[in-house]
Amino acid sequence: MHRSTDLPYADPDADWSLPGWLYTDAEYFELECARVIRPSWQIVCHESDLAGPGAWRTLSYLGEQLVAVRGADGVIRGFHNVCRHRAMRLVEGASGCARKLVCPYHAWVYELDGRLSGVPMKSDYPALRLEENGLASVEVEIWRGFVFVRLEDDGGPSVATMMAPYDAEVAPYRFEDMRRLSDVRERERRVNWKNVGDNYSDNLHIPVAHDGLTRLFGKSYAIEAADWVDRMSGELVDRPSSDPWERFYQTHLPRVDHLPEANQRRWLYYKLWPNMAFDIYADQIDFMQWLPLTPTTSLLREMSFALPDQRREMRLVRYANWRINRTVNAEDTWLIERVQEGMASSSYTAGPIGASEVCLRSFAAKIRERIPEARQHRAPPPGWSRRVRQA
Ligand code: FES
Ligand SMILES: [Fe+2]
Repeated sequence: MHRSTDLPYADPDADWSLPGWLYTDAEYFELECARVIRPSWQIVCHESDLAGPGAWRTLSYLGEQLVAVRGADGVIRGFHNVCRHRAMRLVEGASGCARKLVCPYHAWVYELDGRLSGVPMKSDYPALRLEENGLASVEVEIWRGFVFVRLEDDGGPSVATMMAPYDAEVAPYRFEDMRRLSDVRERERRVNWKNVGDNYSDNLHIPVAHDGLTRLFGKSYAIEAADWVDRMSGELVDRPSSDPWERFYQTHLPRVDHLPEANQRRWLYYKLWPNMAFDIYADQIDFMQWLPLTPTTSLLREMSFALPDQRREMRLVRYANWRINRTVNAEDTWLIERVQEGMASSSYTAGPIGASEVCLRSFAAKIRERIPEARQHRAPPPGWSRRVRQA
């Protein structure tokens, strides 16, 4: 397991949290988007969402518009959703299906593999070569049935590499065979994107701020940090909760035959570098990513998946799960919005970090490695990031 003390050098800042200015500063935000978010994998959908040739799904972040499309050959490819003629958006909305991608502006035609195959009045364009004007592609990774894209390759790990330490643990859940339970939910939050992730892997707040989880897990909540993934887990206790939805979930969760005994009543959470997580229950999984919008706002994007299971108790248990976690999410939102405001306070610099806070340590160490200015407890004078980029 990774500890910040495992770094090849002693990190003088290991015992400090990331300073508050990293959660508000516009220059830092630009640098972080370039060095952390652009080179990282982002989930688009599940393979089953792109069921046949021509099925597509879109994802937008950092001002880039992307589309994942299944080709006539069955391969899923990623492209910028931008026409090569006058930059018109090619497909509109979250999902659809098309035999070819036809631009709504001047009707240029792209094949499902991105090739430009048709241009009205083609001889009118002296500089045009069809073979040089296919859609700009982006890298795609399929991991256990989920489709990820990334804008840039900086040599960082694949999703499969990040998840390798836990591959044996997730394999029995059969993510590949899962299907979407509900459509993508998108919600804006008035927080810096890091505040969502910090809170997701924050172990010490569970007994303080989440009465429901504390009733459900007892003292079993545990965390650990691998190189690129945080793992959190809790075991459902048998003592019936005083809350009706929690009690319903505890008593009605049906056996799930494909899971080992130890996983029947385990809630398992993984956070992947830098801004994705999935919550794994015996009854379903929830995928979540938090995309930066501005230094102080983010977009939460969530989707739920499960193996087809029409048992009545399974449907009710999934509903109970949603009710329980709706409360947990409201508690976390209340916390992080206040933390965000505190980060902007002139009184706050950085805070001491506990030895047990291994996930916060691991995340902060990776940020400091990519952006050394993150070590400074106060923002450098304006213009600092231009000097850093030129150096
Ligand atoms: S912008 Fe797409 S065809 Fe002109
Ligand atoms: Fe929380």
